[in-house]
Amino acid sequence: MAKKKAWGGRFGGETDRFVEEFTASIPFDVLLYRHDIAGSVAHARMLGKRGILPKAEAERIVKGLVAIRGEIESGKFPFDLSDEDIHMAIERRLIRRIGPVGGKLHTGRSRNDQVATDLRLYLREEIDEILELLAGIEETVVSRAEELFGIVLPGYTHLQRAQPILFSHYLLAYREMFARDADRFLEARRRVNVSPLGAGALAGSTFPLDRAFTARALGMDGVCENSIDAVSDRDFAADFLYACAVTMMHLSRLAEEMVYWSSSEFRFLSLPDALCTGSSIMPQKKNPDVAELIRGKTGRAYGNLTNLLTLMKGLPLAYNRDMQEDKEPVFDSARTVKDCLIGANLLLRGMEVNEERMRAACDDGFLTATDLADYLARKGVPFRKAHEITGKIVRHCEERGARLKDLSLKELRAFSKAIGEDVRSAISLTNSVRLRKTRGGTGAQAVRDRLSSLRKK
Ligand code: ARG
Repeated sequence: MAKKKAWGGRFGGETDRFVEEFTASIPFDVLLYRHDIAGSVAHARMLGKRGILPKAEAERIVKGLVAIRGEIESGKFPFDLSDEDIHMAIERRLIRRIGPVGGKLHTGRSRNDQVATDLRLYLREEIDEILELLAGIEETVVSRAEELFGIVLPGYTHLQRAQPILFSHYLLAYREMFARDADRFLEARRRVNVSPLGAGALAGSTFPLDRAFTARALGMDGVCENSIDAVSDRDFAADFLYACAVTMMHLSRLAEEMVYWSSSEFRFLSLPDALCTGSSIMPQKKNPDVAELIRGKTGRAYGNLTNLLTLMKGLPLAYNRDMQEDKEPVFDSARTVKDCLIGANLLLRGMEVNEERMRAACDDGFLTATDLADYLARKGVPFRKAHEITGKIVRHCEERGARLKDLSLKELRAFSKAIGEDVRSAISLTNSVRLRKTRGGTGAQAVRDRLSSLRKK
């Protein structure tokens, strides 16, 4: 038997059972219970302070709400689908616990400004957790870059061996991405942390509410300036989902590298057993599932962003019930990003780097061809010409199955008289990396400088 609805006054019959299920958000928005209670506590205190409710009544409401939080946390709260959403569930329970005075909590408030407040409080908390996880993975990347300093591997473009790079330099590329991710979340947080309370259903309130008071009580930086916008805006959620999507894109690229670098073809890395699983049929298999799932879950993060943007695009102002659909994508992305940051951090911390394999891979593929061209250019050969000469040398090597360093000085000089004895060191791996001194480049000193500037931060 469905219970009487809080909004039941103007309704004759009972709500259809299907409609009750179809419209209920309580199965997922229960996640907002703490934020809902925090918002209600601030609202009740404000009502008391402004004399909209007698102080004693406001205090009874606050006490009731705190007790309800305890009930939910200890699993004693009687949830019921007929409550529709977490806001109604808590209000019904409040009235049951403290009597009709509980019905005064909703004075000067609507579920529309209430739910927007809840979602903002929830997001603020999630963002803070994500920022901590980002700081954690950033720390891992920097400390592994310090630990593994000196290891050289091929850098790739088009997934073709291109130029040798320091593994530390590669790792620090991800530190830049994670730092930008943190920036994006901070930016989103700034727009999240503004209070819609007092906007009412859409037009404001006839009660002398103190909007600044509730905002301050909730630790928010200010109030939404337009009541219509306050209840219809979900930009802050889209900002969050975008920040999640980009973070996942970064994690997915990292995961992809872990997957193929740990394959037998590469063997650049080995991932710890604790982070891999086996195959049910092939006994030899050790699969990089965590990395694969990070890559795979990126799809949902993109989907969630598209979901919300599509959900919002046709909605007339102000609140529409469609907007109840904003929650699941937001919850899902928050959880996904947090899990994947934890997983990626474990992978980064646990991976073992195969220095020999990386170095051996630098040995073929003519990785120092650019260094040879640069060498010629330093001897005064125009770079375009130097490029062409080097190209011919590479082809010569390929025809003979030789590497650049296998050619004798005589053979090299047959291509250009500008080549001298010092070419050997110029095209050595060590020099190739050492010479890239440009700020932000892979040169040992440049990377060391970057590491120390990061440590100073
Ligand atoms: N469950 C609703 C949501 O999540 C709460 C707001 C409902 N407002 C309303 N006027 N029906 O959006």
